[in-house]
Amino acid sequence: MKRIIYFDNAATSWPKPVSVYRKMDEFIRKWGANPGRAGHRMAVGAERIIEETRYQIAQFFGIKDYRRIIFTLNCTDSLNIGIKGLLKTGDDVITTWLEHNSVTRPLEGLVKKGIITVTRINHSEDGFIDLEELHNAFTPKTRLVVVVHGSNVIGTLQPIREIGKICKEKGIIFMVDAAQTAGVIPIDVERDNIDLLAFPGHKALFGPTGTGGLYVGRRVNLEPWREGGSGVDSESELQPRELPFRLEGGTINTVGVAGLGAGISFIQKEGIEKIRQHEMELTKYLLQKLGHIKKIRVYGSQNGEKRIGTISFNIKDLNPAEVGAILDESFGIACRTGLHCAPSTHKKLGTFPEGAVRFSLGYFNTIEEVDFAIDSLSQISA
Ligand SMILES: Cc1ncc(COP(=O)(O)O)c(C=O)c1O
Repeated sequence: MKRIIYFDNAATSWPKPVSVYRKMDEFIRKWGANPGRAGHRMAVGAERIIEETRYQIAQFFGIKDYRRIIFTLNCTDSLNIGIKGLLKTGDDVITTWLEHNSVTRPLEGLVKKGIITVTRINHSEDGFIDLEELHNAFTPKTRLVVVVHGSNVIGTLQPIREIGKICKEKGIIFMVDAAQTAGVIPIDVERDNIDLLAFPGHKALFGPTGTGGLYVGRRVNLEPWREGGSGVDSESELQPRELPFRLEGGTINTVGVAGLGAGISFIQKEGIEKIRQHEMELTKYLLQKLGHIKKIRVYGSQNGEKRIGTISFNIKDLNPAEVGAILDESFGIACRTGLHCAPSTHKKLGTFPEGAVRFSLGYFNTIEEVDFAIDSLSQISA
């Protein structure tokens, strides 16, 4: 394969640290049994690695009780388990126009069935939600506030600590979609007053695809949609009440979780601050260079401190899908174009339905790659 510059880390991170590949290979060869289902040494060994990873994730997000982490398939799965497991007839949900379809669709599906109502908070032109409007949006029917921490289109970081504080004061459940931030921006569920934290394992936490997690806080009781084998209480015909078993029916992605554990170990070894610093420097550099190409319009905040390395832009008079195809075919740059599963964000930006070109940077990207991409974009725009 010819050289590739991978700028699609918001979809899934690539490459993974070498330790992730190694761990998965070792796990499947040595511990490829079903954890928690049998007493033989392979099953026990598999369970030990899964539970160590659960504990590691708990520590990573400041979670006191590691049993409150549920392994899921991806962030979409986590969001669905949280949203659908919590909401009841008559509830209202406060959310934003910046959400991914994995929040919008479960919510709108429940609206269509006449079960809930949804209130959306506006944001400024550079993508920060209006906290005053949030304050005024609560009603006696409000049950949940769900907010994307880092926009997967314009990269804006929302002040989740402040939002969490408001929710706590009002006694409302606060759910954070950390799809784009888990692994890059420090998150502490206690400090940030988060009741439900949905995160993918396969993006900035460096696990493989097919991994994700949901933290279920003490104030929350979720109804499982998936019931089945759990390895505990097998005599009962009902799903166990205790976590994580309640929400984890069926065999989990053990190999993936082992890889996720190695991904988090990598972050802990490098230091999340170093990772954030590197991505922020690349982001600032890319933003500055894009600003010099006359025909390019960048969306969202120009302040590198208040955003992640997900940058959307368009070249005047060119269709973003076409730009993406040229970047791939002629320059070997992999990025994502279109609506990024967030149509309401693009409607607000005025970029619907074509969307935009999105570069999403990761820890393994370099300044040289950004320079090459800028040169490629200059050629395309010329
Ligand atoms: C903001 C946001 N939320 C949720 C998701 C869904 O994540 P997953 O791909 O793990 O299902 C994504 C995916 O890109 C996202 O960007």
